[in-house]
Amino acid sequence: MTAKSYPPAPSKRVFSGIQPTGNLTLGNYLGAIRNWAPLQRDYECLYCIVDLHAITLFQEPAALHDATRQVAAALIACGIDPDEHVLFNQSLNPDHAELAWYFNCVARMGWLSRMTQFKEKAGKDRERASAGLFVYPNLMAADILAYRAGHVPVGEDQKQHLELANDIGEKFNHDWAVPGFFPEIEPLILGEATRVMSLRDGTKKMSKSDPSDMSRINLTDDADAIAQKIRKAKTDPKPLPESAEGFEDRPEARNLVTIYAALTERTTAQVLGEVGGAGFGDFKKKLADAAVAHLSPITSEMNRLLADPAEIDRTLFKGGDKARAMSAPVVASVRDILGFVHPG
Ligand code: AMP
Ligand code: TRP
Repeated sequence: MTAKSYPPAPSKRVFSGIQPTGNLTLGNYLGAIRNWAPLQRDYECLYCIVDLHAITLFQEPAALHDATRQVAAALIACGIDPDEHVLFNQSLNPDHAELAWYFNCVARMGWLSRMTQFKEKAGKDRERASAGLFVYPNLMAADILAYRAGHVPVGEDQKQHLELANDIGEKFNHDWAVPGFFPEIEPLILGEATRVMSLRDGTKKMSKSDPSDMSRINLTDDADAIAQKIRKAKTDPKPLPESAEGFEDRPEARNLVTIYAALTERTTAQVLGEVGGAGFGDFKKKLADAAVAHLSPITSEMNRLLADPAEIDRTLFKGGDKARAMSAPVVASVRDILGFVHPG
């Protein structure tokens, strides 16, 4: 076979994904989604609802179906523009699964065994975890690299997966002697609140899957629910510190101040300048007001969109068509690189 050359990877392409499992939380919002809309100004963006990733843990079909539409509505309500950019659910583009298979053959067992998310999600009984949960990061690498995207906005918890995706891209480029075919992925970990913690335990990540609803603020919570959850959020007896050093051994205080800073678009230091020395009672009122002011327009727009599910589906299908058209030439090149006999 003669060595072929491939067009360079697009330099301004963003890809990110979010799982349609349970309710979206304030953590998803501040850590990821909020940063997605502004990127649309300077980049060509693909935002994907990753239903194939969701089923690495069992999902009730009806709940998965509803959650997919709910996430789509949330993303549109947060300013994602499905006409100018690409919004779709992952299973609409089979190229992700095909490329993930190739990456199953590139990634090493040792690399995957080190993933902290696998260890957390598999729990003590790893023998019973699905094989899909183990190779989850390969599918994530495929999501991004099917479009040769170089920029990925995520929360802090996804950094390790993106490092693995880079290891896969590099090994592929090296083993098949196609330097630069897959671009290096730059993680975009943006904003003040890259890791929002549980309201009940400041050492645990705020998560859609936490059994306690009081541990998180959902994007669908109404003003009363938000105020109640913040009022009951775990704190400690001391007043708020004057500076960030005072957060030592006070994860709950740090978390609430970080959330407030992110919601009001200030730094933690600026917030402590305002509230340092105050008790939690007054601060929690301010925080609840800021959260309600910020989230209630999003929630009402989401509810308006969800009243017409057929329109949401049409939007996703259009996104799926655009996505397939973008990944098709990349996956065709990969088949070519691997030496498969195919029509080109
Ligand atoms: P997931 O809910 O796991 O699909 O995550 C979707 C996006 O939200 C990813 O970019 C995560 O990094 C981000 N994310 C999820 N939970 C949090 C959290 N507690 N704090 C900050 N970012 C988060
Ligand atoms: N694994 C990510 C999460 O749980 C979701 C995801 C899947 C993703 N594919 C992606 C994020 C590609 C960024 C890029 O949060």
